[in-house]
Amino acid sequence: MAVLVTGGAGYIGSHTVVELILAGYDVVIVDNLSNSSRESIERIKTITGKTPEFYHADILDRKALREIFAKTEISCCIHFAGLKAVGESVEKPWEYYHNNILGTLTLVDEMRRHGVKNLIFSSSATVYGDQETMPLTEASPLGTCSNPYGFTKAMQEQILRDIQTADREWNVTLLRYFNPIGAHPSGLIGEDPRGIPNNLLPYITQVAVGRLPHLGLFGDDYDTPDGTCIRDYIHVVDLAIGHLMALRRIEEQTEQSALQSAPQLGVYNLGTGNGYSVLEVIAGFTKATGIEIPWVLKPRRSGDLAVSYANADKAWTELGWEATYDIHQMCAHAWNWQSKNPNGYE
Ligand code: NAD
Ligand code: UD1
Repeated sequence: MAVLVTGGAGYIGSHTVVELILAGYDVVIVDNLSNSSRESIERIKTITGKTPEFYHADILDRKALREIFAKTEISCCIHFAGLKAVGESVEKPWEYYHNNILGTLTLVDEMRRHGVKNLIFSSSATVYGDQETMPLTEASPLGTCSNPYGFTKAMQEQILRDIQTADREWNVTLLRYFNPIGAHPSGLIGEDPRGIPNNLLPYITQVAVGRLPHLGLFGDDYDTPDGTCIRDYIHVVDLAIGHLMALRRIEEQTEQSALQSAPQLGVYNLGTGNGYSVLEVIAGFTKATGIEIPWVLKPRRSGDLAVSYANADKAWTELGWEATYDIHQMCAHAWNWQSKNPNGYE
């Protein structure tokens, strides 16, 4: 039996595929390469010594999915495929709802047709919206998202919850990522955003490598100790291992449900529980790499929250997972990737 990874050529997907292969799983990837490169598959092979089966296909393409399910016995699907740029989602809401929502509906439909009812989904802390109380736990209320991308995540969560309620054979795990950064310690795979990066770390590494002149720092007048926003940055390898632990839990549940145990909907925060401000990340990057990052103050970015960090105790208690890398290693590995690949996979 194989694990189907949608979006497995992408940033988080490729790191998860590496951990799955190293843990002995057979992996099948479906990716339309709309935001990734085939080269990442080659790099996965270099790291693991194994080539995952790769289908260059769109998850909206029912026929393609049907062929894959017919050809391969799939035990579980880890679903990363989706569009994820917040600003772009404001410009192109139709494209975001169409790709993310219809993609998930199509995938889930083909899964159930083929009797595959184990799913791990890439959600985001964005579903909490703007909360007063920190840290965020899975019991925190869901909030109002500030952009269409965020709404697609909230809607996909709801769709999957309802499907699991209606058919208790489903095991659904919703993983709410905080801020994934860093890269595989080998420096062979990492984040390769198209165009100007939207997120902090890739922007910093592109300044460091000389592709961009300076970082714009979005606001220093927030109600935080140094006035800049606080986030829970998590190493992408830790995040990848979180998926492995979620998969193991689903496997246990599948065995137990044969013995009448209740099937599951699991919701887990994947974060470190530590918040760092933008200025602390800039300083942390310099400490880890010796490279100064020039920055200029810019106005606040619309939709930004002052503070967001996780309580990830539930993932520890129920999945046996916790983050192990610190901010120093996250910055060092992000730089290792960027300096070895100044133009990403190109
Ligand atoms: P990514 O863009 O690197 O990976 C997504 C992959 O999905 C890409 O390889 C892309 O080509 C593919 N894809 C998109 N639409 C597809 C479709 N219709 N059919 C087939 N393939 C398709 O992004 P990532 O950072 O690795 O994110 C993975 C998932 O995690 C996404 O769902 C994203 O929303 C979610 N997430 C990411 C972050 C983050 O900060 N990176 C935070 C929270 C949640
Ligand atoms: C953003 C998205 C979130 C998404 C996440 C990962 C918003 C409002 N939220 O989170 O939905 O899940 O990316 O894709 O966009 N910063 C700068 N200069 C920069 C870039 C960022 O100062 O050039 C600051 C931001 O203001 C923020 C912090 O750095 O305070 C982190 O930003 P970013 O990496 O974009 O992540 P989030 O905003 O937390």
